[in-house]
Amino acid sequence: MNVLLIGSGGREHALAWKLAQSPLLTRLYAAPGNPGIAQEAECVALDVADHAAVVAFSREKAIDLVVVGPEAPLVAGLADALRAAGIKVFGPSAAAARLEGSKGFTKDLCARYGIPTGAYGRFANAAEAKAYARRMGAPIVVKADGLAAGKGVTVAMDLDAALHAIDACFDGAFGAAGAEVVVEAFLEGEEASFFCLCDGATALPFGSAQDHKRVGDGDTGLNTGGMGAYSPAPVLDAAVEARVMREIVEPTLRGMAGMGCPFSGVLFVGLMIGADGPKLIEFNVRFGDPECQVLMMRLKDDLLVLLEAAADGQLGHVSARWRDEAALTVVMAAKGYPGRPQAGTPIRGIEAAEATGAKVFHAGTKRADGELVAAGGRVLNVTATGRTVGEAQAGAYAAVDRIDWPGGFCRRDIGWRAVEREK
Ligand code: AMP
Ligand code: GLY
Repeated sequence: MNVLLIGSGGREHALAWKLAQSPLLTRLYAAPGNPGIAQEAECVALDVADHAAVVAFSREKAIDLVVVGPEAPLVAGLADALRAAGIKVFGPSAAAARLEGSKGFTKDLCARYGIPTGAYGRFANAAEAKAYARRMGAPIVVKADGLAAGKGVTVAMDLDAALHAIDACFDGAFGAAGAEVVVEAFLEGEEASFFCLCDGATALPFGSAQDHKRVGDGDTGLNTGGMGAYSPAPVLDAAVEARVMREIVEPTLRGMAGMGCPFSGVLFVGLMIGADGPKLIEFNVRFGDPECQVLMMRLKDDLLVLLEAAADGQLGHVSARWRDEAALTVVMAAKGYPGRPQAGTPIRGIEAAEATGAKVFHAGTKRADGELVAAGGRVLNVTATGRTVGEAQAGAYAAVDRIDWPGGFCRRDIGWRAVEREK
C-alpha cells in the first residue's frame, strides 16, 4: 500500500515509525514531515490546507490510504475532500470533527444522550456568560468554543479570573474560536486520556495514557501542549474502561451516526476520573501528542491494518494487542516554551541517546546547513519502555542525559503519579 501521512510533529513521527514496520507498506509519504519522519518516509512540501493539491498528489502517487495526524485539517474538511475524490482516509469528516472543533457541540451531545460531563452553558455574549459564572461560582472553567491551538481553556480558581477570561474571549483573544464561549463546572479527580479507533459504528479500545500539561515539575507553571506521557494509565483499569465505553464512547458513536455524521478515525477521550466515576472533559478527533508516542511503543499489531480497517468500516474484524511493558516519553522543549521558544539552537547526541535502547521522536526540528536545530516549542520526545513505569522513566531520563542540547529543557518528574503508585 502507498500511504500519505499528514502532519509534522512528534505524533506523526511515531505514526510514521510504526507504519514503516508494516509488511503491507510499499511507499510512505509525509506532508510536510520533519527530519525524524524523513528517516521513515519521503517528505513532500504539500500545503495541507490546499485540499485540491492533496487530492492531486494522492492520485498521482496512487495513494491507498491518507492518515491525517492533526485536528486542523480535519475540522477544515480535508477528509471530506479526499473521500469525495474516492481516496480512502483515516480521519473524520468535518461534521464529525465538530467533536473537537466545537466544545458547545460536544456538550450539547452529552446533554442529549446522557453522557457524564460537567454542567455547562453556551453563550454568545459576555453579559450572559458572566451571569452564569457568578451563579455557578468558582472554581469554574471558561472555554473558547472553537479550535484555539490548546490555548482557549481557562481553569479559573476564582470568579475574577473567570470574568477576565470571558472578556478575553469576546475581545478576540482567540479570534473566531472565541465568538462563542462555554462555561462549565470544574471537575475534580485524576485526569487520563483514553483512545478508541472508530469506523462510524464500532469503537475499538486503543489504549490509555496520562499526559503532563504544566510546564514545570510538580505540575506547576503554565499550561502546555503536554510535557510528557506514559501508557498505560493505571487509573483507567478494566472496570473504568468498561464504564467509559458504555457511558461515553458508545452513546457518542450512536448519537453521531443518528445525526447523520458518523465518526470514523481516532476518538481521544479526555477524562476526569473522580469519586463518582469517569466524566468527559473533552473529545479530540486525533491522537494525543505526546500520548501517541507511548501508544505506538506498546502496540504489537500492524498499525496500517488497524487504520485501514477503521477507514473501511471493518473494525469489528480486527483486534489490537499491547506489550505488557509500560512506555514513557519525556518532551524536551526549547527554552522559552510555552511563551517564546528560542529557535535555531543546535541539537546533538540523538544517536547516543538511542544507543541506550530509547527512541527519540522529532517534534520540532529542522536541518540547517546539515545540522539538526530546534524549530518549535516542543522539539524532541525521548521515549523508553520498561517492566514498570519507574523502569521506563529511568530509561527515558538516561537517554535524555545523553542529548547535548543547551538550548533545551525538560521536566524531570514525568510519570510521578504512576511511580508513586508502584512504590
Ligand atoms: P485543553 O487545553 O482543552 O486540553 O484543556 C486544558 C486542561 O484544562 C485540561 O487538560 C484539564 O486539565 C483542564 N480542564 C478542562 N476542563 C476542565 C474541567 N471542566 N474541570 C477541571 N479541569 C478542566
Ligand atoms: N497532549 C494533549 C493533546 O494532544 O491534546
